[in-house]
Amino acid sequence: MKGVILAGGLGKRLEPLTRITNKHLLPVYGKPMIYYPIQALVDAGIKDILIVTGGNHAGEFLRLLGNGAEFGLKAINYTYQKGEGGIAEALKLAEHFSDNDKTVVILGDNLIEKSIKRYVRDFAKQPKGAKILLKKVDDPERFGVAEVKGNRIIKIVEKPKLPKSNYAVTGIYMYDKKVFDIAKALKPSNRGELEITDVNNEYIKRGEMTFSILDGWWSDCGTHEALLRANNLVAKAETSLRGRRPKQSL
Ligand code: G1P
Repeated sequence: MKGVILAGGLGKRLEPLTRITNKHLLPVYGKPMIYYPIQALVDAGIKDILIVTGGNHAGEFLRLLGNGAEFGLKAINYTYQKGEGGIAEALKLAEHFSDNDKTVVILGDNLIEKSIKRYVRDFAKQPKGAKILLKKVDDPERFGVAEVKGNRIIKIVEKPKLPKSNYAVTGIYMYDKKVFDIAKALKPSNRGELEITDVNNEYIKRGEMTFSILDGWWSDCGTHEALLRANNLVAKAETSLRGRRPKQSL
């Protein structure tokens, strides 16, 4: 299974923090944001990782991460997205890298508390199609929202004014190789982007989409409030972890 981290975009909602750097290089507690999705993939057993970035600061990723030795990786792959075409547009750049394999895609600003290993393992056994992870939130209108009936997703609506549920679609997506043909056939949305929600709705239409409810907390970092929340969640997790470690002798 391959792993793709989408870390492009201009991060306009975080201005002026993103004026001189890429959103995914901003600090979240003790580390740059991009460290967390990399670690999430590594913890799920994925070692073939591609980072898709863009904008004016792409070189900084290489300077920061090099070949990923800090994560126990032998290499990290990088590619560059020109302009602001949306998540599905960025994903298209991973076709060559994915090489007909299944692919786990994670948005570079999505942080999670617990390992996604078991969902990835389940998807490895899924004969075809896609899998997404949902999470109940208080502000679903900020996200893609899934309308769920029993164990089926009926439809996903991107940032609905009147959400049909509280289930946000997290930025962790698992796809078979068909994702690239689906992405290539998309038309830009009203905001002029190729939407990942349209990709997911196509899998739903084909009856090939499964989902799980993500265990543990989840936060994006797309707004100042979300970034602060992510910082606080990571800080709390790190300090409680430290509390549990045996005291070191001075
Ligand atoms: C994107 C997706 C949305 C998803 C969210 C998760 O939104 O379009 O469906 O719920 O990521 O973080 P964005 O934050 O790019 O507006």
